[in-house]
Amino acid sequence: MKLLRRKITLSKYKINIISTGKYLPTKELTNDDLSKMVDTSDEWIYPRTGIRVRKIADENETVVDLAYKSAQDAILKGNINKDEIDLIIVSTITNEVKNPSVANMVQKRLNIKGKVMSFDINAACTGFVYALEIASALVNTNFNKALVIGAEKMTNIVDFTDRNTCILFGDGAGSLIISKGNDETHFYNDSDGDLLEELVVSDYIKMDGRKVFKFAVDIIPKAINEVLNLANLNIDQIDYFLPHQANIRIIDAFVNKPNIDKNKVLNNIEYYGNTSAASIPILLDEYKEQNKKDKNNLLIVGFGGGFTWGSAIIKL
Ligand code: ACO
Repeated sequence: MKLLRRKITLSKYKINIISTGKYLPTKELTNDDLSKMVDTSDEWIYPRTGIRVRKIADENETVVDLAYKSAQDAILKGNINKDEIDLIIVSTITNEVKNPSVANMVQKRLNIKGKVMSFDINAACTGFVYALEIASALVNTNFNKALVIGAEKMTNIVDFTDRNTCILFGDGAGSLIISKGNDETHFYNDSDGDLLEELVVSDYIKMDGRKVFKFAVDIIPKAINEVLNLANLNIDQIDYFLPHQANIRIIDAFVNKPNIDKNKVLNNIEYYGNTSAASIPILLDEYKEQNKKDKNNLLIVGFGGGFTWGSAIIKL
C-alpha cells in the first residue's frame, strides 16, 4: 500500500512581515551571580556557552507580561491598528497556567474584542519557526493580520540548584506581525521522537547537554540545506543567518562548515542566554533595528526538545 505523507515542497507562502518587536526584562543575572548560587564560574561558563549575562523577569512578572510588551513594541513600530489583528499565536513552554493560553491573555491585554483566533503552541526552541509557518499559511486563507510571538519566562522552569542547566537560560519575548503579501517564504519544519527523554520539562528542565549539543550540531546544516533546496537558492544568496541561540559553540560549529561567511551569522547569546522560543524573534527585531535596508534574505533555524527542528527563508 502506498504511504501518504506530507509533501515538504508545499511549505511555501507569500507573506509580508509588517513589523517586529521585543521585550527583555531589565534585571540581569551574571555568571558571577550564578557562581554564588552553584559551584560554577565565569571561566567555566563563558568559553563553553558564550553567555555572560541573562535577563531575568521579576517574580511577579508573567510570561503574558513579556509577550504583551513585545507585541506592543511590534504594534508601535509597525504603526498598526491592533483591531486588524485577527490571529494570535504564541510559542511558549513556560506559561504559569495550563489554560487560558498566553495568546488569549495577550488578546485580552490588547483589548481586541472577538473575531480573533488565538492559541499557543509548544515546540520548545523550534516553536517560533513552527508558529510562523502556521501563521503564514493562515494569512493566506481568510485571516488579515497575524501576531506571532515567542515568549518564555525560562526562570519558571529552571532549577537554580542544577549547574548543568541553570547557567544556560534567560527570559524574554519577541513578536512579528505578518499579513498576506508578495514575499515568497519557505519553511522546512520537522521532528522525530527518537530523543524524547534527553530534554524534558516537568516541573524543571532536565537534559543531557552533550546529546542535545550533538543533535543540534548535526541538524542545523541539514535544516539549512533542506530549506535552501526548497527555495531553490544557494547559500551565497542568503544575506544573514539567524540561528536559535542555545550555545555559541553550536553556532560556531555550523559557521565552520565551508561556504558560510561568519559575518553573516548573527548572535546575541552573550547578553540573553537561551530564551527558547523567544530567541529567534528577539534576534530578528535586533537585526531590523540595525538594518534599515528592506527585503534581505534571512535564514532562520531552530532546534529543540522533542526533538523538533525547523528553518525558514524570510524577507525582512
Ligand atoms: N559549572 C562548572 N562545571 C560544570 C557545570 C557548570 N555550570 N556544568 C557542568 N559542569 C561539569 C560537569 O559536571 C562535568 O564534570 P565531570 O566531567 O566531573 O562529570 C564537566 O563540567 C563537563 O560537563 P559536560 O556536560 O561535558 O560539559 P560540556 O562541554 O558538554 O558543556 C553544556 C555543557 C554547556 C550544557 C553543553 O553540553 C551544551 O550547551 N549543550 C546544549 C544544551 C542546550 O543547548 N540545550 C537546549 C537546547 S534546546 C532548548 O533550548 C530547549
